[in-house]
Amino acid sequence: MADPRKYYLTYNNIHKTIRNVAEQIEATGYNPDVIVAIGTGGFIPARMLRTFIDRPILTVGLSYYDEENKPKETPRKIQWIDEVESKLAGKKVLLVDEVDDSRVTLEYCLRELLRHQPAEMAVAVLHNKRKQKNGSIPEEVSLYFAGEELDDYWICYPWDAVDIDEQERLAAAADIS
Ligand code: G4P
Ligand code: MG
Repeated sequence: MADPRKYYLTYNNIHKTIRNVAEQIEATGYNPDVIVAIGTGGFIPARMLRTFIDRPILTVGLSYYDEENKPKETPRKIQWIDEVESKLAGKKVLLVDEVDDSRVTLEYCLRELLRHQPAEMAVAVLHNKRKQKNGSIPEEVSLYFAGEELDDYWICYPWDAVDIDEQERLAAAADIS
């Protein structure tokens, strides 16, 4: 049985959510020069988004949870390439991540990237959880896009599934539409 307090998603679901995000972005006329993916959750979404918005992808690696799944005091840089920073000056940036949960990692990442004088900064997430946020989107960020707004349940992404057939069964069982 699918746990009703979890969202089980398939690659097909994700693809359609990303298409929705891409259409929202296009509707505003925002035309990024570069996509920055926050790893690891933003890697696959950023690549899928590139099918619709064909721009180079830079990546940064951040982690907010420790090995015991407890939040750290502040997100930690797993990988942060100087080259990424040098490529942001004067550019229109689209930051991509899979989920806007507490917003702490997003805020940290946006503030770090904003230090490098991008011309414009926008952020796109697949899923925004409806909940009280502990972080905020800096006011320098001109646009915020979310593919879907979800209640505050755990989202099971297909790339975390060990058994992808089981993931698809659980997603189908939970789909009441
Ligand atoms: P936020 O700023 O984007 O809201 O992120 P937050 O600091 O709250 O921490 C987010 C971490 O928790 C991220 O992992 C994110 O992927 C993960 N997370 C939050 N909610 C969910 C959920 O419902 N499902 C899944 N699968 N993950 C969730 P991270 O530490 O950045 O690592 P990674 O998993 O992206 O590598
Ligand atoms: Mg993440």
